[in-house]
Amino acid sequence: MENFEVRKPHAVLIPAPGQGHINPLLKLAKLLHLKGFHITFVNTEYNHKRLLKSRGSNSFDGFTDFCFETIPDGLTPLEGDGDVTQHVPSLCLSIRKNFLKPYCELLSRLNESANIGLIPHVTCLVSDCLMSFTIQAAKEFALPNVLFFPSSACSLLNVLYFRSFVEKGLTPLKDESYLTNGYLETKVDWIPGLKNFRLKDIFDFIRTTNPNDIMLEFFIDIADRVPRDSTIILNTFNELESDVINVLLSMFPSLYPIGPLSSLLNQTPSNHQLASLDSNLWKENTKCLEWLEPKEPGSVVYVNFGSITVMSEEKLLEFAWGLANSKKPFLWIIRPDLVIGGSVVLSSEFLNEISDRGLIASWCPQEKVLNHPSIGGFLTHCGWNSTTESICAGVPMLCWPFFGDQPPNSRFICNEWEIGIEIDTNVKRDEVEKLVNELMVGEKGKKMRQKAMELKKKALESTSPGGCSYMNLDKVIKEVLLKQN
Ligand code: UDX
Repeated sequence: MENFEVRKPHAVLIPAPGQGHINPLLKLAKLLHLKGFHITFVNTEYNHKRLLKSRGSNSFDGFTDFCFETIPDGLTPLEGDGDVTQHVPSLCLSIRKNFLKPYCELLSRLNESANIGLIPHVTCLVSDCLMSFTIQAAKEFALPNVLFFPSSACSLLNVLYFRSFVEKGLTPLKDESYLTNGYLETKVDWIPGLKNFRLKDIFDFIRTTNPNDIMLEFFIDIADRVPRDSTIILNTFNELESDVINVLLSMFPSLYPIGPLSSLLNQTPSNHQLASLDSNLWKENTKCLEWLEPKEPGSVVYVNFGSITVMSEEKLLEFAWGLANSKKPFLWIIRPDLVIGGSVVLSSEFLNEISDRGLIASWCPQEKVLNHPSIGGFLTHCGWNSTTESICAGVPMLCWPFFGDQPPNSRFICNEWEIGIEIDTNVKRDEVEKLVNELMVGEKGKKMRQKAMELKKKALESTSPGGCSYMNLDKVIKEVLLKQN
């Protein structure tokens, strides 16, 4: 006899294969689980191994109604222990070429297990927008497919307008000199919702001289593939990006901003088992929290460039000496693969200078760190998760956008919300020293902190019962994800 559990709705979620994509989608998966869904969460084999390694465990078994599955990423295995960020353009090429087949085979296997009563039948798909092959899979399996865009509404709008930059002849660039000759200051005034944007504030994939640039083609292809009647979930909230969200709603009427997901999840009663399920690709160093404990409230600068950013040793040293010369305490997360072409070696002169005023670690529990009372500012690359996590903690930022969606995010942080100051791409130690002091003890820093606290409050309201994001999650579940049940 079919038991009750087997009749649960079953959502299959697939993030793009990167830390900044796995984290928010896992949060959404937990929320759906708490709303009664059976969950299958699909990672690449490479990332699955890394997740297990960082947990120090052999499997994710034992989570009730929450299963993990894998598909290959189609790339040649990396040498060594594979604890590094994969080459993004190669991954993007492979997503387009290699992912559809194993993904469809997985869906078939899941349905075979359902046919013999082991799990519920798959009833819906929730897929990262970057995994646009799922649109075809959803058609083949006659399933609703809700697309999840893990970044800002503003960067989704950038992607949807990428083709216009090609049509206007603004990209590809004629030659490399266009990166430095003032051309990037050109105004972008034809995209509704983006105020005072310049070319340099757009996704940096337009800064290419290659007419067949992989990243540009990948995103133009996504924009072409997503039908206007698609349902899209965004990890943002109405009060944060209302103008842009309204523009997007006129293009995609079935759009649901449900963020910040960290805040929505924190406010949803959970259980211990689910809370223990994390998604770190690197092993966390929890000593960071102990180190923060005795520090004065609001006194520590937190420095973290996320999971993909890389920089030259020269730039790393500019940051290092800028931080040291600022004389402010700092916690700096330096991933083992942060520096291009080598491991990080900081001189004994630098280490003596900072003594116990600075702590350097390779990965940390970022949300806990940002919410620690000792943290007063965040030097960030403006990844969207870092941005929303900082807003949820009410922490102002110094912005050093690196690639992809980070330039538009930084523009909004610094100019729309006024909770950040941007550091020049060609970073210099004197500027870092000056801006760290401005952020931590200057007048501008004080104002930015106040504004960050106001946004924190709005984020909390939006994700509390009755708030827009809170209600949007219930709506998308009822109106789309459960529609066929
Ligand atoms: C990238 C893009 O930059 C981002 O904008 C996009 O939306 C997703 O892909 P990434 O560069 O890694 O992501 O940055 P970010 O979006 O900030 O995501 C990093 C995540 O890792 C955050 O959730 C952060 O809390 C977590 N993290 C990072 C840790 O838990 N510990 C660390 O030490 C560093």
